[in-house]
Amino acid sequence: MSALHNALHRLAGSADGSSGAGAENYDRLPTRLLGPLYRRVVDDLIDANLPAGAVVLDVGTGPGRLLIELARRRPDLQLIGIDPSPHMLALARKNLNAAGIAGSISLRAGTAAALPVDDSSVDVAVSTVTMHHWPNIGAGVRELERTLGPSGQLLIYDFRFVSSAPLEQGTRTWNPPVTPQRSAVWVAPWLPVPLFTRYQVAAGS
Ligand SMILES: C[S@@+](CC[C@H](N)C(=O)[O-])C[C@H]1O[C@@H](n2cnc3c(N)ncnc32)[C@H](O)[C@@H]1O
Repeated sequence: MSALHNALHRLAGSADGSSGAGAENYDRLPTRLLGPLYRRVVDDLIDANLPAGAVVLDVGTGPGRLLIELARRRPDLQLIGIDPSPHMLALARKNLNAAGIAGSISLRAGTAAALPVDDSSVDVAVSTVTMHHWPNIGAGVRELERTLGPSGQLLIYDFRFVSSAPLEQGTRTWNPPVTPQRSAVWVAPWLPVPLFTRYQVAAGS
């Protein structure tokens, strides 16, 4: 594992939002380093050709940097960010205000296993560098199935070395069962290995 991967993993791993200082520290350096990842995720969402008004849910939005990037490029989408940490949510509100887009994004308290959204109301659920924080990935995956519409999509990006087994076990119980498609995400082309993996799951497929 490269030194950069180790450093990012340590920094992001400590960003559990359990303190205001931790949230601020996470937003000060790691989110800057993660800029290429956010841009890649937004490119993927743009490529998905979502219709105007489609609902995108960011699970574990942290300081909201992905939502800001997405709102800039697709201001016509309905964006929702959820996070269990009041410190992260406060920081996200501050960042959205500073970006002048606070009015267009809904920020809500919640966890992957208890999402504050209606059944079948989400077109795309996305999550960056967060699944490894979920205490019960299986419960999160069940909850995501509830919230995704019949043609909903799940896109999870996490460190390459995070085990995908709980995610794969979880989507096997979806109706119909689905297998996540895995691809390497190479946001730092000069590194010998990709830092992240993307898991793409299409509900109802
Ligand atoms: C490393 S940060 C990533 C934040 C953001 N997605 C990003 O890419 O910058 C991890 C985030 O996961 C959130 N988190 C922790 N437990 C969670 C859970 N059970 N469900 C959803 N999010 C959770 C933390 O509060 C924190 O904001």
